[in-house]
Amino acid sequence: MDFRRLTQPLVQIALPQILKHAGFQRSATGIPRFKNFITIRRYSYSSMEYKMIGPEHCDQVLEHLRRNFFADEPLNKAAGLCQNGSSCAALESHCAEAILDRMSVMAVDAKEQEQGVCKVVGVVLNGILKPGDTAKALSKLDTNDDAGFRKIFDLLHRHNLKYNLFEHFDVACMFDVRILSVDSSYRGQGIANELVKRSVAVARKNGFRLLKADATGIFSQKIFRSHGFEVFSEQPYSKYTDVDGRVILPVEAPHIKMQQLYKAICGGADQDEKEQSR
Ligand code: ACO
Repeated sequence: MDFRRLTQPLVQIALPQILKHAGFQRSATGIPRFKNFITIRRYSYSSMEYKMIGPEHCDQVLEHLRRNFFADEPLNKAAGLCQNGSSCAALESHCAEAILDRMSVMAVDAKEQEQGVCKVVGVVLNGILKPGDTAKALSKLDTNDDAGFRKIFDLLHRHNLKYNLFEHFDVACMFDVRILSVDSSYRGQGIANELVKRSVAVARKNGFRLLKADATGIFSQKIFRSHGFEVFSEQPYSKYTDVDGRVILPVEAPHIKMQQLYKAICGGADQDEKEQSR
C-alpha cells in the first residue's frame, strides 16, 4: 500500500482547512504562525460578540481608540498625533460625530470584563456622508489648532473633493467607513474582517447604495478589497508635499499610499444572505 498517496489529500487539503478554522494563519513561508496559537488559546472566538454602538458606548469606544487607533494608524503615527493612551480632542470629536449616526459596530470580549463591562476590542465607526459635508469640514480645518490633525484631514478632504464619488455615482448620501481599529493584542484573528462584513450588512439594511472608505495602510486596503470594495482613487504619500517639496506625512513602510475605496450595493435579500455567508 502506498501510504504517501493515501495521506496526501489529508495533508494538502484537509489539514490547511482544519488549521484555518482553528484560527491559524498561513505566514509568508507557508508555515502556520505559532504566535496565533497562543492568542487563540487566550481569546477564543466564542467569547467575541459584535454589537451596534450607541451614544452610551462613546466613552468605552474612545478609550479603546486612545489605546490603539490614535497611536497606531499609519497617518496618525506619521503626524505624531498622540502617544498611546493619550487623548486627542479633534480626533475624538470626529469619532463621536460618527457614533451619533448609529451605524457603527464594535467587537467586545465577553470574557474580559472591566468593572463589570465587557472589553471593547475592535470598532468600525461608520458615518453618513452627504454632498457638501467634506467641503464644510475642510473649511473648518483652518480653525483647528492641532497641526497633526490638520495635515491628515487636509490630505483626506482635498483628495475626496478632487475624486468626488458623489459626482460619479449620483447618490444623495453615502455610508462612510471612517475608522477601523482592533486592539493590538487581538489582531490577526479576523476581527477587522468581521467588522467590515457587518458594516456592509448595516449599510444594506439601511438602504445605502454606496459605501466608501479611505484606507490608509496596506492591511486595511486588503481587508476592504476582500469585501468587494474597489479602488476609486489613490494618493501616494511621497506626493503629498509642502511648497518646498518636503513630504508632509512621512508614513512608515510598508504603507505607501491612501486608497479611496467604494462599494456599490444593489439591494435584495438574496445578495444580503450571500454577504452574510462570506
Ligand atoms: N500583517 C499581515 N497581514 C495582516 C496584518 C499584518 N499586520 N493585519 C491584517 N492582515 C491581513 C490578515 O492576514 C487578513 O488577511 P486574510 O483575510 O487573507 O486572512 C486580513 O488582513 C484581515 O485581518 P484581520 O485579522 O481581520 O485584521 P485585524 O483584526 O488584525 O485588524 C487592522 C487589522 C484594523 C488594520 C489593525 O491592524 C489595526 O487596528 N491597525 C491600526 C489602525 C489602522 O491602521 N486602521 C485602518 C486605517 S483605515 C480606516 O480606518 C478606514
